[in-house]
Amino acid sequence: LGSWRELEKSFPPLKNDLLLRAAKGEDTPRAPVWVMRQAGRYLPEFLEVRKSHSFFECCQTPSIASALTLQPIDRYPNLDASIIFCDILVVPQALGMEVLMEPSKGPVLPKPLVTPEDIKRLNSNVSVEKELGYLFEAITLTRKGLAGRVPLIGFCGAPWTLMAYMCEGGGSKTFEKSKPWLYKYPQESKDLLIKIADVCADLLVGQVLAGAQMLQVFDSWAGELTPYHYAEFALPACKHISFKVKSILKELGHPGVAITLFAKGANSPSTFKLLSNSEETGYDTLGLDWTVDPLEVREWLGNKRVNLQGNFDPTVLYGDKDGIEKEVKRLSEQWKKAGGGWIANLGHGITPNVKPEDMGWFLECVHKYSKRD
Ligand code: CP3
Repeated sequence: LGSWRELEKSFPPLKNDLLLRAAKGEDTPRAPVWVMRQAGRYLPEFLEVRKSHSFFECCQTPSIASALTLQPIDRYPNLDASIIFCDILVVPQALGMEVLMEPSKGPVLPKPLVTPEDIKRLNSNVSVEKELGYLFEAITLTRKGLAGRVPLIGFCGAPWTLMAYMCEGGGSKTFEKSKPWLYKYPQESKDLLIKIADVCADLLVGQVLAGAQMLQVFDSWAGELTPYHYAEFALPACKHISFKVKSILKELGHPGVAITLFAKGANSPSTFKLLSNSEETGYDTLGLDWTVDPLEVREWLGNKRVNLQGNFDPTVLYGDKDGIEKEVKRLSEQWKKAGGGWIANLGHGITPNVKPEDMGWFLECVHKYSKRD
């Protein structure tokens, strides 16, 4: 992977760079748009592939992961980005934990971390090349398949969100097994978060060297924490990732890529203050969920040194054509008033029962109403 320059030269030139420009703070002629989980269960072509392959088999087979990544790009000419098909839970797998994807339950980790003693069970000196090399291969294949149509986003889970899965043994409504770690074992929790962050950083670097043109870190459970615990535990581990990625890429002579932090639900004004300066956090763009207004967030941020992504309510896609159009128009107006770089997205993932044609209409509406006059 040392020869990223040669590899980069072998890819067709990028024809649509709206995403990369908005992520650097440019006021683009219209907002670039993509959707979290755009490759997924609302697409019949995805369900067809899933009939004959398990979820992790899809992630671990580069030809399948790449084909799934391209499905929404082939179907929707209005998408401005692709995101590699994989999952945040490949990091616990690389650390040596078993992760199953159960049809009705979602992810299950049969042997969760119960006390800090259990951290010893995790692999040390994880080689992402060896454990997760399939992802890098999938990225390189996908860059070829994209043929420069849109940029490719690489990603990982944020340490706090991954720690929550690793301690709960799966999803949770109460977080009664993971959050008490922060109260009972604060130092061990910080050590665990950094241990996870190190693997995440290596994974992101590997994705960039394989061809990812932008990165996103998903902190889906950030909003479960008090603003104090977010600042004390979750954010420092996210900063460990961004700065490690930037420093390794710099050492390799790579120009670097923009990184987005999606800290779902971490919406207090004091938290936004901490996130307001890209130079301090190492994140160029913040992903917002739908419970905040873009104008209000811009005010909390106090300056425009960070770009924003979001933040349509995913259920707008159940709103039928008229409902979708009205809401895209309304929120686009807010975003235009807020100014600065804007990447249009949902405030969380697209849900399984959305009609594919409604997703297409949503994208069309964003193109129309996000135009700057
Ligand atoms: O298209 C894309 O966005 C790229 C692929 C992607 C997936 N998961 C595929 C997936 C991405 C970026 C993720 C991230 C992810 N995975 C997150 C962070 C974003 C978020 O949603 O908050 C989290 C928390 C996970 C963990 C995870 N993976 C859960 C909770 C589930 C079950 C979800 C559910 O809705 O049932 C998954 C499974 C998963 N990951 C699916 C897909 C397409 C569906 C699984 C299937 O096909 O059976």
